[in-house]
Amino acid sequence: MEFSLETCAEEYRERFLKHYDELKWLYCELYENRMDAFEDLCGRMYRYYQQRGEGLKELDQFRIGHPDWYRGNRLLGMMMYVDAFAENLQGVRKQLDYMEECNVNYIHLMPLLDAPEEGNDGGYAVSDFRKVKPSLGAMKDLGRLAEDCHRRGISLCLDFVMNHTSEEHAWAKKARQGDPEYQGYYYFYEDDGILQEYEKTVPQVFPTTAPGNFTWLPDIGKYVMTTFYPYQWDLNYKNPAVLNEMMDNALNLINQGIDIIRIDAVPYIWKELGTNCRNLPQVHSIVRMMRMICEIVCPGVLLLGEVVMAPDKVVPYFGTVEKPECHMLYNVTTMATTWNCVATKDIRLLRQQMDIVNGLPKEYVFLNYLRCHDDIGWGLDYPWLEQFGLEEVSHKKYLNDFFVGQYPGSFARGELYNADPASGDARLCGTTASLCGIEKARYEHKDGDLEKAVQLDIMLHAYMLVQSGIPVIYSGDEIGQENDYTYHQDLKKCEDSRYLHRGKFPWDLAEKRTEKGSIQERLFAKISKLEQIRKLHGVFGSEASVWTIDTWDDSVLGLIRANGEEKLVALFNFSESARTAWIKEEDGNYTDLISGRRLPAKDVKMPGYGVYWLRKDA
Ligand code: GLC
Repeated sequence: MEFSLETCAEEYRERFLKHYDELKWLYCELYENRMDAFEDLCGRMYRYYQQRGEGLKELDQFRIGHPDWYRGNRLLGMMMYVDAFAENLQGVRKQLDYMEECNVNYIHLMPLLDAPEEGNDGGYAVSDFRKVKPSLGAMKDLGRLAEDCHRRGISLCLDFVMNHTSEEHAWAKKARQGDPEYQGYYYFYEDDGILQEYEKTVPQVFPTTAPGNFTWLPDIGKYVMTTFYPYQWDLNYKNPAVLNEMMDNALNLINQGIDIIRIDAVPYIWKELGTNCRNLPQVHSIVRMMRMICEIVCPGVLLLGEVVMAPDKVVPYFGTVEKPECHMLYNVTTMATTWNCVATKDIRLLRQQMDIVNGLPKEYVFLNYLRCHDDIGWGLDYPWLEQFGLEEVSHKKYLNDFFVGQYPGSFARGELYNADPASGDARLCGTTASLCGIEKARYEHKDGDLEKAVQLDIMLHAYMLVQSGIPVIYSGDEIGQENDYTYHQDLKKCEDSRYLHRGKFPWDLAEKRTEKGSIQERLFAKISKLEQIRKLHGVFGSEASVWTIDTWDDSVLGLIRANGEEKLVALFNFSESARTAWIKEEDGNYTDLISGRRLPAKDVKMPGYGVYWLRKDA
């Protein structure tokens, strides 16, 4: 049906008119006044509005009335692979009680759309955006899961892999058969001169596992652009048909009941010769358009940008207060810096990084995490570290040595990821528990070390929960899931060490979370308690001002959260030995929210890997 402003629903017309001029302007600027394509997009948008379920429209209305619904200290996330966690979508539905037991009300399910059995990059090579991977279920299962989640007040987050499709996608297949229309959906080149030009300025994402940015297709005698793996063909957003079709795919997914769309690898979606093909201004135009499209069609839906970049590249994805882009972004540099502090036992870099984040407007919502399905890239502030004589390549080498357990005194068990002998660069994989030393201590039967490792793991979670934004737990971390080495024997996975921390959820170990004194119980109970405290006290709300304080010990991070009358002094000892936080907060009496003990916020003695959440008494 054709879209007409006269006949469309009142609420829709209002929202559409609010954004119309800007949307049209951006679209026409990007696509040289292709009004036919713009009208096509508008038609699709209205169609999805019409098809959107009544329950979802009610949720939209509620969220319009409560634009802060996702801020504050209410949301707590968990991310997981459907098959690793519960076999399939029905299995996930059955485990919602467990999720609630974990205090979780935001679930991020890793890519679950159809993808080839082999060559799928953990689901990030989608072959059909309209179909759930059959082994995981069907679209209707996704819809039912979303309904069940909503009934329990849980929000559902799903990836939208928009930079590329699998080479098995119908568009790619048609392109490969020589259809010029679909070749226009991708970047095809015959001349390798232009490739060499690109390679001069475009860095590599997977220098060892998938070198180069193009793949030669001998059957058709052409190169196709493949920034990630050779089977992930980059979509050409210079073609308005690609944007329209992909928005159609996104809205279709959203209408299944998805609350949060994680826009995967978004900085890469626009390419220009002579640039690094990342974060180009056109990317921001597209993200801004996506934001407006959602605000018109499904205003209850949030955009979570996956921008794994340096801080100065991340923040622009929030857009401006008048013209916002993403609702939420990953706090990626803080995450990497945290692990840096675990190795160095020196919090100075973390403090400087947190000061940057804390100085940003409170409207910016960050997603805080310790681990996710990807590797840890050591994107630290090296210019700042130079003052201590630290240099990028050697410091990265030190961190990698430490976390693969090759540095004297290291307790960590990780593996390198994409180690590039040419540049000396490498990233890192491993679960939180294994990187904290739980795996090694358990294997070596060293109870004292195990005690320390568990304490470090808890301290890191306590630290994550105190940061501004939304904490997201990586499934398995709540019970100390260790590395899974079985991927080494799997030919489809062995090249990609990220599978080290993508193992099957150990339900047998999860059972032990109620067994007093077990590792699982110690972690689960403590993390759970911290999460509950966070939800209970207004001082953890996003309106709070947050700043770091001097503790006069480079191993102890001191942080203050203040919200109205409420004040919290949080202290974290990143060293395994006892330290003192030489602070002097003498404005009242304090109680440690974790132990319930009265404790003056003055010259606080801390055990190794100790943590205090000192709240000023009312
Ligand atoms: C994102 C995903 C990562 C994937 C890449 C390519 O960075 O998190 O797992 O390999 O996109 O789609």
